[in-house]
Amino acid sequence: VSLQPFNSFGLPGTATRYAEIHSASQLVKMARAGELNGQRTVILGGGSNVLLSGDIDGIVLHIRIPGRELIGSDDDYHFVRAGAGENWHEFVRWTLEMGWPGLENLSLIPGTVGAAPVQNIGAYGLEICERFMVLETVDLKSGSLVSFDFKDCGFDYRDSIFKREAAGRFAITSVTFRLPKRWSALTRYVDVARELATRSIIDPKPLDVSDAIIALRSRKLPDPAQVGNAGSFFKNPVVSAKHYAELLAAFPELPSYKQIDGQVKLAAGWLIDQAGWRGRNQGQVGMYEHQALVMVNHGGASGQDVLRLAAAVRRDVNDRFGVSLEMEPVLI
Ligand code: EPU
Repeated sequence: VSLQPFNSFGLPGTATRYAEIHSASQLVKMARAGELNGQRTVILGGGSNVLLSGDIDGIVLHIRIPGRELIGSDDDYHFVRAGAGENWHEFVRWTLEMGWPGLENLSLIPGTVGAAPVQNIGAYGLEICERFMVLETVDLKSGSLVSFDFKDCGFDYRDSIFKREAAGRFAITSVTFRLPKRWSALTRYVDVARELATRSIIDPKPLDVSDAIIALRSRKLPDPAQVGNAGSFFKNPVVSAKHYAELLAAFPELPSYKQIDGQVKLAAGWLIDQAGWRGRNQGQVGMYEHQALVMVNHGGASGQDVLRLAAAVRRDVNDRFGVSLEMEPVLI
Protein backbone atom coordinates (compact mmCIF):
# COMPACT_ATOMS: atom_id res chain seq x y z
CA VAL A 1 0.00 0.00 0.00
CA SER A 2 1.37 3.44 -0.88
CA LEU A 3 1.59 5.80 2.09
CA GLN A 4 2.22 8.90 0.00
CA PRO A 5 -1.39 10.16 0.28
CA PHE A 6 -1.31 9.64 4.05
CA ASN A 7 1.63 11.89 5.00
CA SER A 8 1.40 15.65 4.66
CA PHE A 9 5.04 15.87 3.55
CA GLY A 10 3.97 13.87 0.48
CA LEU A 11 6.96 11.52 0.76
CA PRO A 12 6.95 8.18 -1.06
CA GLY A 13 6.91 4.86 0.78
CA THR A 14 4.87 1.70 1.12
CA ALA A 15 3.70 -0.62 3.88
CA THR A 16 3.44 -4.38 3.49
CA ARG A 17 0.13 -4.31 5.41
CA TYR A 18 -2.34 -1.51 6.03
CA ALA A 19 -5.58 -1.36 8.00
CA GLU A 20 -8.07 1.45 8.50
CA ILE A 21 -9.24 1.46 12.10
CA HIS A 22 -12.77 2.68 12.86
CA SER A 23 -13.20 1.60 16.48
CA ALA A 24 -11.32 0.54 19.59
CA SER A 25 -12.96 -2.88 19.48
CA GLN A 26 -11.52 -3.49 16.02
CA LEU A 27 -8.03 -3.02 17.51
CA VAL A 28 -8.86 -5.25 20.47
CA LYS A 29 -9.94 -8.04 18.09
CA MET A 30 -6.83 -7.72 15.92
CA ALA A 31 -4.53 -7.80 18.94
CA ARG A 32 -6.34 -10.76 20.58
CA ALA A 33 -6.26 -12.74 17.31
CA GLY A 34 -2.49 -12.28 17.27
CA GLU A 35 -2.66 -10.37 13.97
CA LEU A 36 -0.08 -7.85 15.15
CA ASN A 37 2.45 -10.28 16.58
CA GLY A 38 5.98 -10.47 15.31
CA GLN A 39 5.81 -7.51 12.99
CA ARG A 40 6.53 -3.82 13.09
CA THR A 41 3.42 -1.79 13.93
CA VAL A 42 3.16 1.85 12.96
CA ILE A 43 0.25 3.96 14.18
CA LEU A 44 -0.74 6.73 11.80
CA GLY A 45 -3.15 9.61 12.38
CA GLY A 46 -3.31 12.57 10.03
CA GLY A 47 0.29 11.96 8.95
CA SER A 48 1.15 15.62 9.50
CA ASN A 49 4.01 15.10 11.92
CA VAL A 50 5.85 12.17 10.38
CA LEU A 51 8.87 11.83 8.18
CA LEU A 52 8.57 8.72 6.06
CA SER A 53 12.10 7.61 5.29
CA GLY A 54 11.29 4.59 3.13
CA ASP A 55 9.21 1.42 2.89
CA ILE A 56 7.79 -0.15 6.03
CA ASP A 57 8.07 -3.90 6.46
CA GLY A 58 5.12 -4.24 8.81
CA ILE A 59 1.59 -3.04 9.36
CA VAL A 60 0.31 0.53 9.37
CA LEU A 61 -2.77 1.14 11.51
CA HIS A 62 -4.50 4.22 10.14
CA ILE A 63 -6.64 5.58 12.97
CA ARG A 64 -10.02 6.84 11.77
CA ILE A 65 -12.05 6.48 14.97
CA PRO A 66 -14.84 9.11 15.02
CA GLY A 67 -16.94 10.69 17.75
CA ARG A 68 -17.20 13.82 19.86
CA GLU A 69 -19.34 14.46 22.92
CA LEU A 70 -19.68 16.33 26.18
CA ILE A 71 -19.33 13.60 28.80
CA GLY A 72 -19.88 15.70 31.90
CA SER A 73 -19.01 18.79 33.84
CA ASP A 74 -18.32 20.02 37.37
CA ASP A 75 -18.12 23.47 38.91
CA ASP A 76 -14.92 24.28 37.07
CA TYR A 77 -14.78 22.31 33.83
CA HIS A 78 -16.59 20.88 30.85
CA PHE A 79 -15.30 17.42 29.99
CA VAL A 80 -15.30 16.78 26.26
CA ARG A 81 -14.23 13.56 24.61
CA ALA A 82 -13.27 12.99 20.97
CA GLY A 83 -12.37 9.94 18.91
CA ALA A 84 -8.70 9.74 17.96
CA GLY A 85 -9.51 9.98 14.25
CA GLU A 86 -11.37 13.31 14.43
CA ASN A 87 -9.73 16.18 12.57
CA TRP A 88 -8.11 18.40 15.21
CA HIS A 89 -9.08 21.79 13.84
CA GLU A 90 -12.70 20.80 13.12
CA PHE A 91 -12.93 19.49 16.67
CA VAL A 92 -11.56 22.77 18.08
CA ARG A 93 -14.05 24.86 16.08
CA TRP A 94 -16.90 22.58 17.18
CA THR A 95 -16.03 23.05 20.87
CA LEU A 96 -16.03 26.82 20.38
CA GLU A 97 -19.36 26.80 18.58
CA MET A 98 -20.82 24.63 21.35
CA GLY A 99 -19.72 27.22 23.93
CA TRP A 100 -16.85 25.28 25.50
CA PRO A 101 -13.78 27.44 24.90
CA GLY A 102 -10.22 26.65 25.88
CA LEU A 103 -8.64 25.17 22.78
CA GLU A 104 -8.86 28.26 20.53
CA ASN A 105 -5.11 29.00 20.63
CA LEU A 106 -4.53 25.62 18.99
CA SER A 107 -6.71 26.42 15.97
CA LEU A 108 -5.62 25.27 12.52
CA ILE A 109 -2.98 22.83 13.73
CA PRO A 110 -3.03 20.00 11.17
CA GLY A 111 -3.63 16.39 12.16
CA THR A 112 -5.96 14.38 14.34
CA VAL A 113 -7.18 14.45 17.94
CA GLY A 114 -5.31 11.22 18.68
CA ALA A 115 -2.01 12.65 17.48
CA ALA A 116 -2.35 15.85 19.52
CA PRO A 117 -1.11 14.42 22.86
CA VAL A 118 1.64 12.38 21.18
CA GLN A 119 3.74 15.47 20.49
CA ASN A 120 1.89 17.63 23.06
CA ILE A 121 0.91 20.13 20.36
CA GLY A 122 1.40 23.74 21.29
CA ALA A 123 1.08 27.21 19.84
CA TYR A 124 0.59 30.82 20.92
CA GLY A 125 1.14 30.25 24.61
CA LEU A 126 -0.84 27.05 25.10
CA GLU A 127 0.06 23.36 25.11
CA ILE A 128 -2.50 20.60 24.85
CA CYS A 129 -1.35 19.10 28.18
CA GLU A 130 -2.86 22.16 29.91
CA ARG A 131 -6.34 21.14 28.72
CA PHE A 132 -5.82 17.41 29.00
CA MET A 133 -7.80 15.09 31.24
CA VAL A 134 -7.31 11.46 30.19
CA LEU A 135 -6.91 9.32 27.09
CA GLU A 136 -7.89 5.78 26.21
CA THR A 137 -5.67 3.33 24.37
CA VAL A 138 -5.58 -0.26 23.24
CA ASP A 139 -2.47 -2.15 24.28
CA LEU A 140 -1.59 -3.78 20.96
CA LYS A 141 0.36 -6.52 22.72
CA SER A 142 -2.43 -7.82 24.95
CA GLY A 143 -5.56 -6.32 23.43
CA SER A 144 -6.57 -4.73 26.72
CA LEU A 145 -7.90 -1.21 27.18
CA VAL A 146 -5.51 1.06 29.07
CA SER A 147 -6.15 4.67 30.04
CA PHE A 148 -3.43 7.25 30.63
CA ASP A 149 -3.95 10.25 32.88
CA PHE A 150 -1.86 13.43 32.83
CA LYS A 151 0.99 11.94 34.85
CA ASP A 152 1.11 8.72 32.81
CA CYS A 153 1.59 10.66 29.56
CA GLY A 154 4.95 12.14 30.57
CA PHE A 155 4.28 15.36 28.70
CA ASP A 156 7.15 17.65 27.81
CA TYR A 157 7.82 20.28 25.15
CA ARG A 158 6.65 18.61 21.88
CA ASP A 159 7.04 15.27 23.61
CA SER A 160 5.23 12.53 25.53
CA ILE A 161 5.59 8.84 26.39
CA PHE A 162 3.90 8.06 23.04
CA LYS A 163 6.96 9.38 21.18
CA ARG A 164 9.21 7.33 23.48
CA GLU A 165 8.65 4.06 25.33
CA ALA A 166 4.98 3.65 24.39
CA ALA A 167 5.48 4.25 20.64
CA GLY A 168 3.94 1.47 18.53
CA ARG A 169 2.60 -0.31 21.63
CA PHE A 170 -0.42 1.69 22.77
CA ALA A 171 -2.81 2.98 20.12
CA ILE A 172 -4.71 6.06 21.31
CA THR A 173 -8.43 5.66 20.62
CA SER A 174 -9.96 8.71 22.31
CA VAL A 175 -8.91 11.81 24.23
CA THR A 176 -10.86 13.68 26.92
CA PHE A 177 -10.22 17.37 27.51
CA ARG A 178 -11.14 19.55 30.49
CA LEU A 179 -12.19 22.96 29.32
CA PRO A 180 -12.36 25.75 31.91
CA LYS A 181 -15.76 27.26 32.68
CA ARG A 182 -14.06 30.48 33.82
CA TRP A 183 -12.51 31.39 30.51
CA SER A 184 -10.23 34.26 29.69
CA ALA A 185 -8.47 34.95 26.43
CA LEU A 186 -4.78 33.91 26.29
CA THR A 187 -3.24 36.79 24.37
CA ARG A 188 0.14 37.23 26.02
CA TYR A 189 1.78 36.07 22.80
CA VAL A 190 2.63 39.33 21.05
CA ASP A 191 1.61 38.16 17.54
CA VAL A 192 -1.87 37.32 18.81
CA ALA A 193 -2.31 40.62 20.66
CA ARG A 194 -1.20 42.53 17.57
CA GLU A 195 -3.53 40.60 15.23
CA LEU A 196 -6.50 41.31 17.52
CA ALA A 197 -5.53 44.99 17.73
CA THR A 198 -5.40 45.19 13.92
CA ARG A 199 -8.96 43.89 13.93
CA SER A 200 -9.94 46.52 16.55
CA ILE A 201 -11.04 43.79 18.94
CA ILE A 202 -10.59 44.90 22.56
CA ASP A 203 -12.48 42.23 24.45
CA PRO A 204 -11.95 39.10 22.34
CA LYS A 205 -14.40 36.20 22.43
CA PRO A 206 -13.10 32.63 21.92
CA LEU A 207 -14.02 32.64 18.22
CA ASP A 208 -12.20 35.98 17.77
CA VAL A 209 -9.01 34.46 19.16
CA SER A 210 -9.46 31.42 16.93
CA ASP A 211 -10.03 33.61 13.85
CA ALA A 212 -6.94 35.71 14.64
CA ILE A 213 -4.80 32.59 14.99
CA ILE A 214 -6.16 31.13 11.77
CA ALA A 215 -5.09 34.34 10.02
CA LEU A 216 -1.63 34.31 11.64
CA ARG A 217 -0.96 30.68 10.79
CA SER A 218 -2.24 31.04 7.24
CA ARG A 219 0.23 33.87 6.62
CA LYS A 220 3.28 32.14 8.09
CA LEU A 221 2.81 28.46 7.55
CA PRO A 222 2.38 26.61 4.25
CA ASP A 223 -0.94 24.76 3.79
CA PRO A 224 -0.03 21.04 3.61
CA ALA A 225 -2.76 20.58 0.99
CA GLN A 226 -0.80 22.93 -1.31
CA VAL A 227 2.86 22.39 -0.35
CA GLY A 228 4.10 19.22 1.36
CA ASN A 229 5.37 19.88 4.91
CA ALA A 230 5.17 18.63 8.50
CA GLY A 231 5.01 21.94 10.40
CA SER A 232 8.05 22.93 12.44
CA PHE A 233 10.83 20.64 11.34
CA PHE A 234 13.06 21.23 14.39
CA LYS A 235 12.31 21.82 18.06
CA ASN A 236 13.26 25.16 19.53
CA PRO A 237 16.58 24.35 21.25
CA VAL A 238 17.21 25.00 24.93
CA VAL A 239 20.66 26.24 25.97
CA SER A 240 22.33 27.05 29.30
CA ALA A 241 22.24 30.60 30.69
CA LYS A 242 25.99 30.84 30.04
CA HIS A 243 25.72 29.77 26.41
CA TYR A 244 22.83 32.19 25.96
CA ALA A 245 24.87 35.10 27.38
CA GLU A 246 27.70 34.35 24.95
CA LEU A 247 25.32 34.15 22.00
CA LEU A 248 23.52 37.35 22.99
CA ALA A 249 26.83 39.23 23.12
CA ALA A 250 27.56 38.17 19.56
CA PHE A 251 23.95 38.41 18.27
CA PRO A 252 22.04 41.15 20.13
CA GLU A 253 18.85 40.45 18.10
CA LEU A 254 18.63 36.81 19.26
CA PRO A 255 14.98 35.95 20.16
CA SER A 256 14.71 33.94 23.36
CA TYR A 257 12.30 32.63 26.00
CA LYS A 258 13.54 32.18 29.58
CA GLN A 259 12.67 28.79 31.08
CA ILE A 260 11.71 28.31 34.73
CA ASP A 261 14.89 26.30 35.35
CA GLY A 262 17.11 29.21 34.22
CA GLN A 263 17.89 27.75 30.82
CA VAL A 264 16.88 29.65 27.70
CA LYS A 265 14.86 28.48 24.71
CA LEU A 266 15.96 29.89 21.37
CA ALA A 267 13.96 30.26 18.16
CA ALA A 268 15.20 27.59 15.76
CA GLY A 269 13.51 29.47 12.89
CA TRP A 270 15.63 32.54 13.60
CA LEU A 271 18.86 30.51 13.80
CA ILE A 272 18.08 28.77 10.50
CA ASP A 273 17.11 32.08 8.90
CA GLN A 274 20.39 33.70 10.06
CA ALA A 275 22.35 30.71 8.79
CA GLY A 276 21.05 31.64 5.36
CA TRP A 277 18.56 28.85 4.84
CA ARG A 278 15.23 30.74 4.72
CA GLY A 279 13.80 30.30 1.22
CA ARG A 280 16.81 28.23 0.15
CA ASN A 281 16.37 24.89 -1.60
CA GLN A 282 18.43 21.77 -2.00
CA GLY A 283 17.02 19.59 -4.76
CA GLN A 284 13.28 19.13 -4.32
CA VAL A 285 13.19 20.32 -0.71
CA GLY A 286 13.83 23.65 0.96
CA MET A 287 13.24 25.79 4.06
CA TYR A 288 10.02 27.78 3.68
CA GLU A 289 10.40 31.40 2.62
CA HIS A 290 8.00 32.83 5.26
CA GLN A 291 9.12 30.61 8.17
CA ALA A 292 12.55 29.02 8.01
CA LEU A 293 11.62 26.42 10.62
CA VAL A 294 9.34 24.60 8.19
CA MET A 295 10.79 22.28 5.57
CA VAL A 296 8.78 22.06 2.35
CA ASN A 297 8.59 19.47 -0.41
CA HIS A 298 8.39 21.22 -3.79
CA GLY A 299 7.30 17.92 -5.34
CA GLY A 300 8.94 14.58 -5.91
CA ALA A 301 11.19 14.60 -2.84
CA SER A 302 12.14 11.40 -1.01
CA GLY A 303 12.75 10.83 2.69
CA GLN A 304 16.47 10.76 1.88
CA ASP A 305 16.28 14.27 0.35
CA VAL A 306 14.64 15.49 3.56
CA LEU A 307 17.28 13.90 5.77
CA ARG A 308 20.07 15.33 3.61
CA LEU A 309 18.74 18.88 3.88
CA ALA A 310 18.12 18.41 7.62
CA ALA A 311 21.79 17.42 8.04
CA ALA A 312 23.00 20.45 6.05
CA VAL A 313 20.85 22.86 8.09
CA ARG A 314 21.93 21.29 11.39
CA ARG A 315 25.58 21.52 10.37
CA ASP A 316 25.35 25.21 9.39
CA VAL A 317 23.44 26.19 12.54
CA ASN A 318 25.92 24.28 14.66
CA ASP A 319 28.93 25.87 12.91
CA ARG A 320 27.56 29.34 13.35
CA PHE A 321 25.93 29.22 16.80
CA GLY A 322 27.25 26.05 18.43
CA VAL A 323 23.63 24.95 18.88
CA SER A 324 22.50 21.46 18.00
CA LEU A 325 18.99 21.19 16.50
CA GLU A 326 16.74 18.23 17.17
CA MET A 327 14.16 17.04 14.64
CA GLU A 328 10.55 17.48 15.68
CA PRO A 329 8.52 15.09 13.45
CA VAL A 330 8.55 11.37 14.14
CA LEU A 331 10.86 9.44 11.81
CA ILE A 332 9.34 6.26 10.39
N1 EPU B 1 12.01 33.89 13.01
C1 EPU B 1 12.85 34.44 12.07
N2 EPU B 1 12.93 33.86 10.83
C2 EPU B 1 12.18 32.79 10.50
C3 EPU B 1 11.31 32.23 11.45
C4 EPU B 1 11.24 32.80 12.71
O1 EPU B 1 13.56 35.40 12.33
O2 EPU B 1 12.30 32.33 9.36
C5 EPU B 1 11.89 34.51 14.34
C6 EPU B 1 10.55 35.20 14.53
O3 EPU B 1 10.58 36.52 14.06
C7 EPU B 1 10.35 35.13 16.01
C8 EPU B 1 11.01 33.81 16.40
O4 EPU B 1 11.90 33.50 15.33
O5 EPU B 1 11.06 36.16 16.66
C9 EPU B 1 10.02 32.71 16.65
O6 EPU B 1 9.22 32.48 15.51
P1 EPU B 1 7.64 32.16 15.62
O7 EPU B 1 7.01 33.09 16.55
O8 EPU B 1 7.12 32.06 14.24
O9 EPU B 1 7.50 30.78 16.33
P2 EPU B 1 8.40 29.48 16.28
O10 EPU B 1 9.26 29.42 17.49
O11 EPU B 1 9.10 29.43 14.98
C10 EPU B 1 6.72 27.92 17.55
C11 EPU B 1 6.21 26.52 17.37
C12 EPU B 1 5.09 26.51 16.35
C13 EPU B 1 3.98 27.42 16.83
C14 EPU B 1 4.56 28.82 17.01
C15 EPU B 1 3.55 29.79 17.56
C16 EPU B 1 8.01 24.95 17.81
C17 EPU B 1 9.03 24.00 17.23
N3 EPU B 1 7.28 25.63 16.93
O12 EPU B 1 7.32 28.31 16.32
O13 EPU B 1 4.59 25.18 16.28
O14 EPU B 1 2.89 27.45 15.93
O15 EPU B 1 5.68 28.77 17.93
O16 EPU B 1 3.37 29.56 18.91
O17 EPU B 1 7.91 25.06 19.02
C18 EPU B 1 4.83 23.08 15.11
O18 EPU B 1 5.21 22.60 16.18
O19 EPU B 1 4.74 22.39 14.07
C19 EPU B 1 4.52 24.50 15.05
C20 EPU B 1 4.19 25.11 13.91
